[in-house]
Amino acid sequence: MAIFFDEKKQQFYLNTANTSYIIELLDKRIPINIYWGSLLRDMPSAVALRYMHPGNLSVHDVDCGYTFASSYGLPAELPCYGTGDMREPAFHAVYSDGSRISNFEYKSHEIINGKPELSGLPATYGNEDEVSTLLLSLEDQLTGVSVCLQYSVFEQRDVITRSMKIINGGSSEINVLKAASASVDFYDSDFEVVSLHGDWAREFQLEKNKVPYGVLHFDSKCGKSGHFQNPLVVMAKPDATETYGEVYGVNLVYSGNFDISVEKNAIDIVRLQAGINSFDFSWKLKSGESFQTPEAVLVYSDEGLGGMSRKYHSLYRNNLCRGEYKKKNRPILINNWEATYWDFTEEKIIEIAEKAHELGIEMLVLDDGWFGERNSDNSSLGDWFCNTKKLSSGLKGLADKLKDIGMQFGIWVEPEMVSPDSNLYRAHPDWCIHVENRARNLSRNQLVLDFSREDVREYIISAIRNILKSADITYVKWDMNRCISDWGSAKLPADRQQELSYRYVLGLYEVLESLTTEFPDVLFENCSSGGGRFDPGMLYYMPQTWCSDDSDAVERVYIQYGASMSYPVCTIGAHISACPNHQVNRRTPLKMRGDVAMSGQLGYELDLTKITEEESLMIANQINFYREYREVILWGDMYRIASPFENGFAAWQFISEDKSTAILCTYILEGKPGVAPKRFKMQALEKDAVYENVETGEQRTGAFLMNVGVARRWNSDYLSQVSVFRKI
Ligand code: GLA
Repeated sequence: MAIFFDEKKQQFYLNTANTSYIIELLDKRIPINIYWGSLLRDMPSAVALRYMHPGNLSVHDVDCGYTFASSYGLPAELPCYGTGDMREPAFHAVYSDGSRISNFEYKSHEIINGKPELSGLPATYGNEDEVSTLLLSLEDQLTGVSVCLQYSVFEQRDVITRSMKIINGGSSEINVLKAASASVDFYDSDFEVVSLHGDWAREFQLEKNKVPYGVLHFDSKCGKSGHFQNPLVVMAKPDATETYGEVYGVNLVYSGNFDISVEKNAIDIVRLQAGINSFDFSWKLKSGESFQTPEAVLVYSDEGLGGMSRKYHSLYRNNLCRGEYKKKNRPILINNWEATYWDFTEEKIIEIAEKAHELGIEMLVLDDGWFGERNSDNSSLGDWFCNTKKLSSGLKGLADKLKDIGMQFGIWVEPEMVSPDSNLYRAHPDWCIHVENRARNLSRNQLVLDFSREDVREYIISAIRNILKSADITYVKWDMNRCISDWGSAKLPADRQQELSYRYVLGLYEVLESLTTEFPDVLFENCSSGGGRFDPGMLYYMPQTWCSDDSDAVERVYIQYGASMSYPVCTIGAHISACPNHQVNRRTPLKMRGDVAMSGQLGYELDLTKITEEESLMIANQINFYREYREVILWGDMYRIASPFENGFAAWQFISEDKSTAILCTYILEGKPGVAPKRFKMQALEKDAVYENVETGEQRTGAFLMNVGVARRWNSDYLSQVSVFRKI
């Protein structure tokens, strides 16, 4: 049993195959975290340990033979504001009498097989053999408010997820100001914090910092999870590497304003907390109502960042992504965006599709510009009907012609937006997020539709439904190209305006749930100016994400390396584009562009009617190679071997579950003159088995490949190699 309660010691053990998370009910009343780390089946009680800080004022009046310093607080599972803990609370509310103090104590618990759904929210899932759940109920007797802390244990995947439900069982309304999904205290502070920052075309930049005294916030206030910080934060021991050492990851299954904080206090302990951002947030909870927080995914690994990433990857592949395409090979696509931008005709699209088909590409994706009067980013978002001036036979006519060629048809939409120059905006100027009598700030010339409104959601669902029913469309690229500002909803009363950021995301999830259920055969790809909303919440609805608008091979090595911290390769959209590159003007060989894009869901994004014979041949070969080995790349395990953030080169490896096929990918980003070849040591091979390099026929033992490595020249920029090793 993954979860058990030791009645005598009042301890809950949440055990996975290799890890433990242990909660003790202090004085039978207050749940505190006493351990998170490698598997531990027996733990002395917190009282016996006496490793709490002696203080001068006991918190919660707990008399267990020692006292806690009130200013430092207990390592509580649900630290609340107002009873002596001076750090970041996980719960904060205002009650009808104006008081803000909460005191939750143990009420009951239940241990169940399986995992209840989180109503209206995306979350990891699993059957009764895969996951079990502890529902820990606490109550504040004075107010009648209770909370249910939900812990789900994926035993074989070494993952624990947490969320919280607040139930107002009192007779008066409360106003929730903060509700974190997870809060964990560590008993020391010697950590580095690993985070992923970025911007448009520069997503997933890996950063490591020593945890300082004070509070670090990795957050978003831009209405989506955003480019600026990804909702993944890792606490790593200073000696941790890719392959060794203790790391603790937290990744939030949420796509809006979030906050992950790391707080180191005066007595050198650290609190890690994750949840929706309490900034500009409040939620009115009437008597009898409840509020569900999103889910936080906690992963501990003593095998460094690599070990942690593989646990996230297998969870997300198996227990987060859903639908027909969860495990299915996805079509190799050609997207017309970088080939034509807004300037295309049906003839041009057909020409590209014919050439694509000849090369082995399976689907054409028609990007921005096919609807309304859209010839630039100045107009028409919201007018979801085909522009027959560009596409003379309409969407159906085009889809039929593509089918005749042997190509599937995919389409770009940006449903959450409206252009001021659109029929939709002229008809419904109050449908966008705005504050009455204030300027409506444009970004990319567009405004954001108020998805907290039911009428708006219904309109958009029906508009997208009509498009998908109008032609044989098998793929949708769902884009969202701005941050949200001017927070205000024409529909919400004054005292609920601060609910808008959460209601927007709940509305989006409702729309996505409805459309993905109605069109189960359509492959949805998530996009937000590239990877501006690449998070586990979106992966629940759409199994892949266009990772970045930067399609330059060198930039992509950094971006895809960073993204792989928690997101598996099968979720990462990667395209081969033209040279020189449209974002950074860099010239990289087609080989390198292919070698990088192959570490993802492969696609092309260039004018194929303009390529040479030699390039055609290379592309056809790339596609054949990818078809042959994508099972290993997409569904095998990934091992990162060299980081671009630390070297002028990068390397990673994929290996099939049965360890019979391994693929080593190496990329030289900045060549150095006169240097000896670099050896890249492979990982996770069978040491006594013999592996053959499929290209050269060279045979080496697993031990050799892992200890001596594979030599690569690095005396020139942009050398890349993808080598397959097969066990013989
Ligand atoms: C965003 C996307 C691009 C492309 C354009 C179209 O920037 O990330 O891939 O679809 O919009 O306007």
